Amino acid sequence: MFYRPSEGHGLPHSPFNAIVAPRPIGWISTRGSMGDNLAPYSFFNAVAYTPPQVIFACDRKDTLRNVEETGVFAVNMVSRTLLEVMNATSAHFPRGTDEFAAVGIQKAACHEIDCPRVAASPATLECRLIQVVPLEGGADFLTIGRVEGIHLADEFILDGRFDLSLVHPMGRLGYFDYAEVSNLIELRRPK
Ligand SMILES: Cc1cc2nc3c(=O)[nH]c(=O)nc-3n(C[C@H](O)[C@H](O)[C@H](O)COP(=O)(O)O)c2cc1C
Repeated sequence: MFYRPSEGHGLPHSPFNAIVAPRPIGWISTRGSMGDNLAPYSFFNAVAYTPPQVIFACDRKDTLRNVEETGVFAVNMVSRTLLEVMNATSAHFPRGTDEFAAVGIQKAACHEIDCPRVAASPATLECRLIQVVPLEGGADFLTIGRVEGIHLADEFILDGRFDLSLVHPMGRLGYFDYAEVSNLIELRRPK
């Protein structure tokens, strides 16, 4: 089949998110004048090495309001053991709800920024806001951040590598589906 998104797909649910899959999940923690916040974003990715930069996209949610207010955010990695609690933080809580407290997640402090992070996450990126770019359509915004500090849980460092076969990171697929990374395939790039 072929379809133009502007004209609809004729399927029960949009296949768009199942095509751009798996997507990494940025579980983003922020701090604002209304308190701390934690929510997952799969319109999220790393986009540069020097300096390391990440992006995420959303509409005017608490996360974006806090980032605009403070200029910082933290991205927490989601492993298999954190999947259900990550999902719980995506509920529509009233504005100002601290999702850490609401779903019972322990906070830790960031080093470089005044922002909470998920203590149990295998890795966290501490980010400073570079730019918020309005996206076409008017409702959504792309946030670009520079990574200024990186936490790695020591238990996942094996033979000098942050070992994803130990972490079991989660990817977001389409519909209600997720992928657990448990089968790694090593492949060297051609010379
Ligand atoms: C796995 C997952 C990925 C999500 N990705 C996005 C996303 O990329 N953009 C978005 O706007 N909402 C996304 N959501 C929904 C938000 O997490 C949800 O609206 C949340 O309540 C926003 O919280 P906040 O208002 O406290 O910032 C996602 C939810 C889940 C479970």
